[in-house]
Amino acid sequence: MSITARFYANTPDGKEVTLFTLENSKGMKAEIINYGGTIVSLYVPDKDGKLADVTLGYDNLKGYLEDDGTYFGALIGRHANRIEKAEFELNGVVYKLAKNDGENNLHGGIKGFDKQVWDAEIIDWEGKEGLQLTYFSKDGEENFPGNLKVKVVYVLSEDNGLEIHYYAVSDKDTVVNLTNHAYFNLSGHAAGSISGHELMINADQFTPINNEGIPTGEIRDVKGTPMDFTKLSPIGPGFDSDDEQIINGKGYDHNWVLKVSGKEPEKAAELYDPASGRVMEVFTTKPGIQFYSGNFLKGSGVGKGGAVYNKRSALCLETQYFPNAMKHKHFPSPILKAGQEYKHTTIYKFSAR
Ligand code: GLA
Repeated sequence: MSITARFYANTPDGKEVTLFTLENSKGMKAEIINYGGTIVSLYVPDKDGKLADVTLGYDNLKGYLEDDGTYFGALIGRHANRIEKAEFELNGVVYKLAKNDGENNLHGGIKGFDKQVWDAEIIDWEGKEGLQLTYFSKDGEENFPGNLKVKVVYVLSEDNGLEIHYYAVSDKDTVVNLTNHAYFNLSGHAAGSISGHELMINADQFTPINNEGIPTGEIRDVKGTPMDFTKLSPIGPGFDSDDEQIINGKGYDHNWVLKVSGKEPEKAAELYDPASGRVMEVFTTKPGIQFYSGNFLKGSGVGKGGAVYNKRSALCLETQYFPNAMKHKHFPSPILKAGQEYKHTTIYKFSAR
């Protein structure tokens, strides 16, 4: 595995953004910029060994700066997904956040971690090279409490796993929920609809949402619903069903309750594209996963190589704490106590068959 770095662009306020290329001996390649810690491309072999870039994105920084809420490939924080009414209570204090998704807070607010320039360094990671990104989120940034030191290490393994190791520590009690928002189309980023992709999610239950995408607190069995991905199943049929949950999410945009221990990365999901034979397995230590079927992609903006990304031309599998967990005390807690370490790993592992 090797990592190389080259100049990418300057932000309008003069910060330098670097593009890092992570490559392994199998030909797999990931390109990541330190603006948002964004995965800008991910080249993966198909069943004949042919490489394609399987993540959506833009050709230049301008595209990412002008992005209208897709969060293509970016690191999300301080709190991924939605917080109802944009407020939460911690230690008797109510913290009011930006309402950037109707009445609610989404993906860390107006200027979340996806819009920050992170410090970057190529480090030694257990004898391999790793890309270490660090960001210091000040006490009160986006109204979250506590100075938070965040570290994310990307590693590309020889078995075609893109590992994302997340760390954070705060000087006050706070909430932390970090994820990556890559959009995948295993036929290639410009290949169109993902309705032929097949998905397995290692979960018997999901968290139903209201019509604003907010978990209601209920934990419901997937059995007998379009949310049943206990076995590898095509995702197309569920899109257009008249199920109340699909209508609320305008497609799939829900959190599944993973059957993982949280102690070490365990299999959370598998995505298979019969057309190319590419397989993506997701391993994680986090308790939940948001399967979002690209419902809000509008074909606006120009994607990589002039690609047009229409509705449902890619999907996201965002590992996370359940959205809105501060309101529902029976959900795993996203609270990070002062001085304690938030530590999670997610691996997107590729193969073909
Ligand atoms: C998440 C949300 C979606 C949408 C996307 C970004 O996955 O759950 O509703 O906001 O991010 O477009």
